[in-house]
Amino acid sequence: CGIVGYIGNKQAADILIDGLKKLEYRGYDSAGIAVYNGEKIKVQKYKGRLSVLEEKVKENPVQGTLGIGHTRWATHGAPSDINSHPHSNASGDIVVVHNGIIENYMELKEELEEEGYTFKSETDTEVVAQLLDYLYTGDIVETVQKALTRLNGSYALGIISTREPDKLIGVRKDSPLIVGVGEGENFIASDIPAILKHTKNVYFLENNELVILEKDQVTILNKKGKAIEKEIFEVNWSIEDAEKGGYRHFMLKEIEEQPKALKDTMTSRLLEDQDQVILDQIKLGKKELQNINRIFIVACGTAYHAGLVGKYAIERFARIPVETEVASEFRYKKPIVDEHSLVIVVSQSGETADTLAALRLAKEKGARILAITNVIGSTVSREADNVLYTWAGPEIAVASTKAYTTQLICMYMLALHIALELGTISVEFFREIRDALKQTPQMVEEILKHKHDIQKFADHNFNTNSVFFLGRGLDYYTAMEGSLKLKEISYIHSEAYAAGELKHGTIALIEKGTLIIALATQQELYEKLLSNMKEVKARGAHVVAIAQEGHEEVKKVADEVFYIPRINDHVTPVTIIPILQLIAYYIAVARGTDVDKPRNLAKSVTVE
Ligand code: G6P
Repeated sequence: CGIVGYIGNKQAADILIDGLKKLEYRGYDSAGIAVYNGEKIKVQKYKGRLSVLEEKVKENPVQGTLGIGHTRWATHGAPSDINSHPHSNASGDIVVVHNGIIENYMELKEELEEEGYTFKSETDTEVVAQLLDYLYTGDIVETVQKALTRLNGSYALGIISTREPDKLIGVRKDSPLIVGVGEGENFIASDIPAILKHTKNVYFLENNELVILEKDQVTILNKKGKAIEKEIFEVNWSIEDAEKGGYRHFMLKEIEEQPKALKDTMTSRLLEDQDQVILDQIKLGKKELQNINRIFIVACGTAYHAGLVGKYAIERFARIPVETEVASEFRYKKPIVDEHSLVIVVSQSGETADTLAALRLAKEKGARILAITNVIGSTVSREADNVLYTWAGPEIAVASTKAYTTQLICMYMLALHIALELGTISVEFFREIRDALKQTPQMVEEILKHKHDIQKFADHNFNTNSVFFLGRGLDYYTAMEGSLKLKEISYIHSEAYAAGELKHGTIALIEKGTLIIALATQQELYEKLLSNMKEVKARGAHVVAIAQEGHEEVKKVADEVFYIPRINDHVTPVTIIPILQLIAYYIAVARGTDVDKPRNLAKSVTVE
């Protein structure tokens, strides 16, 4: 979910709705605002997209300069007007927006019901509003502090009350919340884009901190209730960076930004004339590495797929065993992690709940934590021992593209760095891979120039209900990411298969016309892949292959071929994936889906 809050001299409703638009990627099944109009707090909230709320507010405007807003991704209680935020107490004079989960809300609800409170919604958030009413001491800040001692779980809260209408209160525990500092106005928000139009000066709240916003003042209290000083962070990216820039969809814009993102991520770390990777900030020198006997890579979704390539690169180059695990599994499998483990967490947003929980578990067991993330100041970045940033710039489309390719680059740089420190590769080999990586931005640019061929392909093939992606070795990992892209935005059933495994069951699903996308870029496995293509062709499949330029035989087997420029086999994931991203994108466009905000998905999943 996304929250935003405003106190100042301007009309709050406009600022809140505008801010929520920038947070829609965090969830968008319902939205609402609450504005204090000088007399009472008026709440307007509706199931559906933000545009529904926007229309209703236009029909029924509210004047006022204090307010909070919310865009929801349902956890407790289905999407509905009533379950939408903001939530209030019975008299409607204490109003709350919330991101996260209150774990003990049932218990609190029962307690309040015994005291005569009744509830309108099924949400955990309404419990917070009623609890504040119940505990009210005559001082709203004190009341919030008192309530916090009763709440378990994760939450970022925005709270306003007619009882003290000169204040907006924000609280953060395990869900992101930032404070925007303006002149004569102040803001809270789940993320920077929501307030960037108004100010570039922000505070990042830490867990258990509480902020009191007044028009001309920001007071931050620590867990003990003591006022603390914090450093202001100046955001150095512009609004345009976070906007669509003329593209029909953020996803296409972000796909096309990949050459720049790749370049940026390598800048200052991988220099043409240097036989080393400059990664001083991660503090993983020979001494530290000799203390490590095991590496885990933990992530969710697309970031997990980058982690699989990371495993390949680290094991191949540095010869250290690596386990790549999805975060939600890692947490509960009693992983064998200790002070000799390096745990690499990969997360675009740096806020994914499962990934964070895995990070904390590993940290507790004494492991060293390295984060690979795209968001400076994100929770993951702050809780890890060291951070390697993907410099992809803000990613807005739910389906991850440039974050993924820059995560790949980070994985390769890391693997090379470790291998050089441990002496497991030669300088010649290092140079080969370094030069290949340095070529990727230009190659991706080349591939993107042919996007219309891919669009044509999509226009002929969008009307299918099942697709299989095949690959071996590295190509298999890329196939997994390609398949995920396709299913998440086009809603076509798709699966990635290790090409050699297909014949052990799944081949039963292949029938006349089934679309197969076969990746055949690995020299070592090329012949084998050709045989697998023949197997499915023989069963009537329509086979589209992706191969490296110069591989002519594939044309004889496949129905269609997309070529990537020739590059070192170890780094092909970076150059094949743009083709698969474009296939997914154009198929989704042809099917008329909501590409940037696919159904049921959220950009940042901050619940378990
Ligand atoms: C969500 C998104 C995915 C993303 C995953 C992990 O499920 O829809 O696109 O890969 O979270 O997100 P993270 O921010 O941790 O990389």
